[in-house]
Amino acid sequence: MKTAEKLKIVIVGTGYVGLTTGVALGYLGHRVTCVDHDTAIIEKLERGISTIYEPGLEELLKQSAPQVSYTKDLLRDLPDAQVVIIAVGTPSKENGDTDLSYVEAVAREIGAAIDPLKPPLIINKSTVPVGTARRVESVIREELEKRCIDCCFSVASNPEFLREGSALHDTFYPDRIVVGATAIDALNLVRQMYAPILEQTFTPPQAVPRPDGYNLPALVTTSPTSAELIKYTANAFLATKISFINEFSAIAEKVGADIVEVAKGVGLDRRIGAGFLKAGVGWGGSCFPKDVRSILFTGSQYNCELPVVQAALEVNRRQKLKAIEKLQQLLKVVRGSTVGILGLAFKPNTDDIRESPAIDVIEGLLEMGARVKVYDPVANEKYKQTYPDQQVIYCETAADTARDADALVILTDWDEFLHLPWAELAATMKNRIIVDGRNMLDREQLQQAGFTYTGIGR
Ligand SMILES: NC(=O)c1ccc[n+]([C@@H]2O[C@H](COP(=O)([O-])OP(=O)(O)OC[C@H]3O[C@@H](n4cnc5c(N)ncnc54)[C@H](O)[C@@H]3O)[C@@H](O)[C@H]2O)c1
Repeated sequence: MKTAEKLKIVIVGTGYVGLTTGVALGYLGHRVTCVDHDTAIIEKLERGISTIYEPGLEELLKQSAPQVSYTKDLLRDLPDAQVVIIAVGTPSKENGDTDLSYVEAVAREIGAAIDPLKPPLIINKSTVPVGTARRVESVIREELEKRCIDCCFSVASNPEFLREGSALHDTFYPDRIVVGATAIDALNLVRQMYAPILEQTFTPPQAVPRPDGYNLPALVTTSPTSAELIKYTANAFLATKISFINEFSAIAEKVGADIVEVAKGVGLDRRIGAGFLKAGVGWGGSCFPKDVRSILFTGSQYNCELPVVQAALEVNRRQKLKAIEKLQQLLKVVRGSTVGILGLAFKPNTDDIRESPAIDVIEGLLEMGARVKVYDPVANEKYKQTYPDQQVIYCETAADTARDADALVILTDWDEFLHLPWAELAATMKNRIIVDGRNMLDREQLQQAGFTYTGIGR
């Protein structure tokens, strides 16, 4: 990338999305300022310590260090910024609507401080309901009016599609980049910012190699409203796809089929595709649940019900209880039993536990009077901080979790669990029951190790 093409970028919100985007854009040669109002996050990052678990991130933090700085003070680099990316959280309100207070607070700060002679392009990367680009623009304009200023600036929508656990990979090698903008200058600036990714002109970081056969990503340019809706449509579709195969896992169990084989046979159809067809104990995370609730709320506001999406949510609610139902079938009496939980994160390769199925399963088991031991390769600490009052026993290893347990339940498909010495674990257990909530293990191997094995839909 030529020096002249480098941009000065401020990213507000240094969580999973802001931090990943920041280090990636820094690696690509832009000058990036990552802003967060959480002092602990900024202090750690200034010392080069990652605040989230994400493969390759530690290395990228080091490599991008000359280009990326971290601050609590949005105003420090705002005057010079050519682009400001909003990447703050957009949690659910009680009624399913999206809480835009963080986004609006950032918009106010920007409006109160931007230089009207060289206003930056504002890019909304947070997942936000339709109309938010316009809302951000009007909030900024209100603040400018307070300063008796009228200036021309743009707000573009650039939804993020990264998956936690492969966030850097998805940032460097996306399927597509979606930009919703009305002004051609705004579009050109976004194109300039992503040029190294769109053209794949960068040398891949060692920790994040370019996949073989990777094709250049598409740039989808559209209106801000369509861009905003693309994000919700994508997440609602993916959540529905998982709920769909989970629904069929129930019928597979009844008729004696194996949902893993069914999904394989179905997913090889190119019209369907194999992704997101894995039956298990349900979806969670920081995105699907809140985004599904948000689009249902938007539908209700427009008197436009979304019954398919509604059903996906309901199937998921029931699916999260499957692990407990299976324990009831196998243990008969759950009260007084010791259950070992393997996996707290909502999926592997992340320490994110937001809306993880583990939360519901553990709560349910504790309510039923079970003694619950838990282990996650990286998320123990986050779980302990978030649920300090939950009476669970934290274990350092899977082997500790198994010791004296009546049953083990796999809730996250960490690779580590594929390679456990199952016979050794079985030897230390009281009862040898395993509920494979992610269908990741080989039934025969587990049976040979002495376990009574049950999966989901098989
Ligand atoms: N996590 C994902 O996998 C993912 C994927 C795609 C899209 N998204 C969307 O991206 C957005 C951010 O998600 P995330 O997971 O990175 O959230 P996060 O909670 O990890 O990070 C958000 C950060 O914003 C900071 N913040 C909030 N208000 C601020 C302010 N006024 N000034 C400075 N910092 C502020 C918080 O302290 C926090 O560190 C959400 O809208 C989410 O839906 C997330």
